[in-house]
Amino acid sequence: MSKVRVGIVGSQFVANLHAEAFRCVPEAELHAVASPDPQHAGEFSARHGIPHRFTDYREMLRLDELDVITVACPNHLHAQVAIDAARAGKHVVCEKPLAMNLDECDAMIDACRRAGVLLLYAEELLFAPKYVRAKALADEGALGDVYYVRQLECHYGPHSDWFWDVNLSGGGVLMDMGCHSIAFGRWVYDNAPIESVYAELGTHVHGERTRGEDHSLCILRFEGGRLAVAENSWARTGGVDDRAEVYGSQGLTVADLLRGSALTTFSQRGYGYALEKAESTAGWTFTMFEETWNYGFPQEMQHFVRCVLGEEEPRSSGEDGRAVLEAICAAYASARTGQRVSLPFEAARAARKPIDLWLGE
Ligand SMILES: NC(=O)c1ccc[n+]([C@@H]2O[C@H](COP(=O)([O-])OP(=O)(O)OC[C@H]3O[C@@H](n4cnc5c(N)ncnc54)[C@H](O)[C@@H]3O)[C@@H](O)[C@H]2O)c1
Repeated sequence: MSKVRVGIVGSQFVANLHAEAFRCVPEAELHAVASPDPQHAGEFSARHGIPHRFTDYREMLRLDELDVITVACPNHLHAQVAIDAARAGKHVVCEKPLAMNLDECDAMIDACRRAGVLLLYAEELLFAPKYVRAKALADEGALGDVYYVRQLECHYGPHSDWFWDVNLSGGGVLMDMGCHSIAFGRWVYDNAPIESVYAELGTHVHGERTRGEDHSLCILRFEGGRLAVAENSWARTGGVDDRAEVYGSQGLTVADLLRGSALTTFSQRGYGYALEKAESTAGWTFTMFEETWNYGFPQEMQHFVRCVLGEEEPRSSGEDGRAVLEAICAAYASARTGQRVSLPFEAARAARKPIDLWLGE
């Protein structure tokens, strides 16, 4: 294999981040994009210099020379796209959350295993340079025995309508952004099994727009009573806030992914772009630079390409995505009953989508 040829399913927000990321990977070549809107697909392929474009991803999968696809479309489509891609012999990079329920996760994992292709779970926080440094500090013992990890990812709500429709998204902010925070906690604890989950959910600001929760607090308990807290919001103004804290018996580290990396700017008139989902650029703002790199997308795609080439072992797989989704399901169930929920949480299988375990549907 000379270059790894990549096809992207989707052409909007995260698809752009994927394309920008792959353009930084010397061993990768952006080869095709599939998106149902021909105008979007056309603009996307022109912007990123992609030779092939399709309105039906199944046609893209017929390209023999394609090695890997990225699933960058709404959550309810992840499983079908990934399974079709695996059957077509393509490696799969799948955006978070892995799928809408555990049965879908298992079907994706099984399809990829049978086809002998990789299922790579795209959790970019595991590649964000500042968080990689925090994890390295924990691993070298700088903090002593780690007993508490807190990860927070918040903004004022997503950019596309489908996120707000729980039938397409599977849930609110816990499903959308809790998956990042839960994955981060698992990673710091070397993907140790989660023993139990407790959660509080609420819809404080966007009740007219969604049945999903717009604020969530989730406590995950690992072996030995070690804790991770996932704190997530679609109700928080001021642009994206993404932070992690890791506490150990002999130290702690605090990482602010966006504001800590940003310029501090004052502008009376405002300016073009400051930070993801910032409502305003007037007054004092945090001006991000190299945002894609600070989030870890190029590093993530570099790693996935090396996995496809057989040079590295996946740091984030379908099984990891499944474990995160199982914790999300347990959190929804906990928020309904007010009780801590133990894992494995087989009752999650009864739910077509995670939020049903909270709404009682
Ligand atoms: N890792 C991250 O930080 C991150 C950030 C944003 C979104 N995401 C995830 O990425 C996925 C996409 O989110 P987004 O923000 O890019 O959404 P978006 O609404 O910006 O884009 C969705 C894209 O999917 C396309 N699409 C819809 N139906 C399709 C179909 N049948 N076949 C092919 N394409 C189809 C749309 O045309 C659009 O191009 C979601 O699963 C989301 O959770 C991850």
